[in-house]
Amino acid sequence: MDKFFFVSLLSFLLAAHGIVGNMMYDNIAMLQELESLDIEEENEIELSEIPSWRSERGGKVLVNVDSFGAAGNGESDDTEAFRKAWNISCATPKSVFLVPQGRIYLVNATKFIGPCAGNIIIQIDGKVVAPDEPKNWDPKLPRVWLVFSKLHKAVFQGSGVIDGSGTKWWAASCKKNKSNRCIGAPTALTIDSSSAIKVKGITIQNSQQMHFTISKSNSVRIYGVKVSSPGDSPNTDGIHISESINVAIQDSQIGTGDDCISIVNASKNIKMKRIFCGPGHGVSIGSLGKNNSTGLVSKVILDTAVFKDTTNGVRIKTWQGGAGYVRGVRFQNVKVENVSNPIIIDQFYCDSPSSCQNQTSAVEISEIMYQNISGTTKSAKAIKFDCSDTFPCSNLVLSNVNLDKLDGTVETFCHSAQGFGYGVVHPSAQCLNSNDQISQIKASITQDIIHHTEL
Ligand SMILES: *[C@@H]1O[C@H](CO)[C@@H](O)[C@H](O)[C@H]1NC(C)=O
Ligand SMILES: *[C@@H]1O[C@H](CO)[C@@H](O)[C@H](O)[C@H]1NC(C)=O
Ligand SMILES: *[C@@H]1O[C@H](CO)[C@@H](O)[C@H](O)[C@H]1NC(C)=O
Ligand SMILES: *[C@@H]1O[C@H](CO)[C@@H](O)[C@H](O)[C@H]1NC(C)=O
Ligand SMILES: *[C@@H]1O[C@H](CO)[C@@H](O)[C@H](O)[C@H]1NC(C)=O
Ligand SMILES: *[C@@H]1O[C@H](CO)[C@@H](O)[C@H](O)[C@H]1NC(C)=O
Ligand SMILES: *[C@@H]1O[C@H](CO)[C@@H](O)[C@H](O)[C@H]1NC(C)=O
Ligand SMILES: *[C@@H]1O[C@H](CO)[C@@H](O)[C@H](O)[C@H]1NC(C)=O
Ligand SMILES: *[C@@H]1O[C@H](CO)[C@@H](O)[C@H](O)[C@H]1NC(C)=O
Repeated sequence: MDKFFFVSLLSFLLAAHGIVGNMMYDNIAMLQELESLDIEEENEIELSEIPSWRSERGGKVLVNVDSFGAAGNGESDDTEAFRKAWNISCATPKSVFLVPQGRIYLVNATKFIGPCAGNIIIQIDGKVVAPDEPKNWDPKLPRVWLVFSKLHKAVFQGSGVIDGSGTKWWAASCKKNKSNRCIGAPTALTIDSSSAIKVKGITIQNSQQMHFTISKSNSVRIYGVKVSSPGDSPNTDGIHISESINVAIQDSQIGTGDDCISIVNASKNIKMKRIFCGPGHGVSIGSLGKNNSTGLVSKVILDTAVFKDTTNGVRIKTWQGGAGYVRGVRFQNVKVENVSNPIIIDQFYCDSPSSCQNQTSAVEISEIMYQNISGTTKSAKAIKFDCSDTFPCSNLVLSNVNLDKLDGTVETFCHSAQGFGYGVVHPSAQCLNSNDQISQIKASITQDIIHHTEL
């Protein structure tokens, strides 16, 4: 069906039936906005392929960690060599911070801080590994491993691997063993307080906890990144976006033990394109609103994704309590395969060892569109909208959704959820409450049909 069909239909009915009102116009405007929601991508700056570390063409200054005493044998501590190389590289215009191919570098938790002289390239062709013993981790940096901060116009690229050596951290997690104390573990790679960043081709794997966090940044483009951890590794989110705007992730393959991509507070203009997720917990907005906090997320697009053997497909999760909003989201062209909750909004999210109480306040969810989503679900509730009693979800729009279960029937679950479906919607979107304007239109359509049948 033409994607503007419903909008045209509404406009037509509006004219034909004279159902005019500001609220009606608001609805049409909302739909039009959702359907045409796009996030501007900057003109593609050519990602400079550095031919190889032997080459010094192109006016680039190679700063090779090996020249600063890195052993690259996977056993010697190369942290100091990395720090020295960073200092020189960062201070040199047009430099390439090079981690050469074919070797393994053991590096402790380190902050690589800018601003740098300009146009730095971080070329990771070799493998960087973290020390694997949680007990020896630097107590001053308990939640991070490799942090890049305050960079402007930097490119991360290469065929290399960043490996968090997470096995012992996972075993020490309270998610794995209830008798363990719940403490946070490091994020493998963090890009923080930066702008105009490109990341291309790197593999991040076996992180202690989250794999790749983008925080407090503006304009970050991620292409062809691979994230990989076992499906049962605890809290190992793939790419986590926090307090950032204008972030695009595309052509990336993510398999982890938690969310493939998670988007949290103060994030806006986030675009994900051609994403493969599995195993993992799907693509999530949230969690938001924990401990009565404010969560603000708007303008998010996921376009073209495959979810395979994941617990969720597209999810929005908020805790009870809290304030703020999630609004202006479009999930489209999604294929799910053997997924437990292909489409889910959960406003009763509780991921805490003690149980959570219901509250009256909530992060408000509105203007969420699901378009062209199909495939197989593992649970009967293929679509689940479980919303706050005090702030119902509003303007949830489903169009061309077709979800089936291999054995048995599927259904849509709604609690305190308002919206509508058009085109094919299976299981049916009937349980969504329509607001007055939509009901009026629906009644008009029905009347028309009765009228015509009588004639
Ligand atoms: C790198 O530069 C910072 C700031 O100038 C300095 O504090 C630090 O000692 C330097 N580290 C190395 C390894 O040279
Ligand atoms: C790396 O961490 C280990 C274990 O805590 C420590 O012994 C070593 O000194 C650290 N290396 C550097 C360069 O800080
Ligand atoms: C959980 O941790 C406790 C205490 O460290 C240990 O005795 C027990 O064997 C662990 N259980 C599992 C299933 O690993
Ligand atoms: C979320 O972001 C807003 C706006 O930046 C801020 O006021 C609020 O404190 C943030 N909430 C949390 C939980 O960090
Ligand atoms: C959140 O606020 C509610 C209402 O003020 C209060 O009852 C509840 O204890 C608060 N929750 C937390 C985790 O602080
Ligand atoms: C919850 O928020 C309150 C007030 O901001 C803070 O004092 C408390 O430490 C927070 N609790 C947790 C578990 O984060
Ligand atoms: C479905 O996914 C589960 C993991 O959630 C996996 O164990 C199972 O093998 C998958 N089934 C099929 C038919 O692929
Ligand atoms: C619907 O989504 C699937 C899966 O991404 C895609 O292959 C197909 O082209 C989409 N259909 C339309 C009409 O865009
Ligand atoms: C919270 O509210 C939901 C929806 O009204 C209800 O299903 C659930 O039982 C409540 N939970 C608690 C702990 O009261």
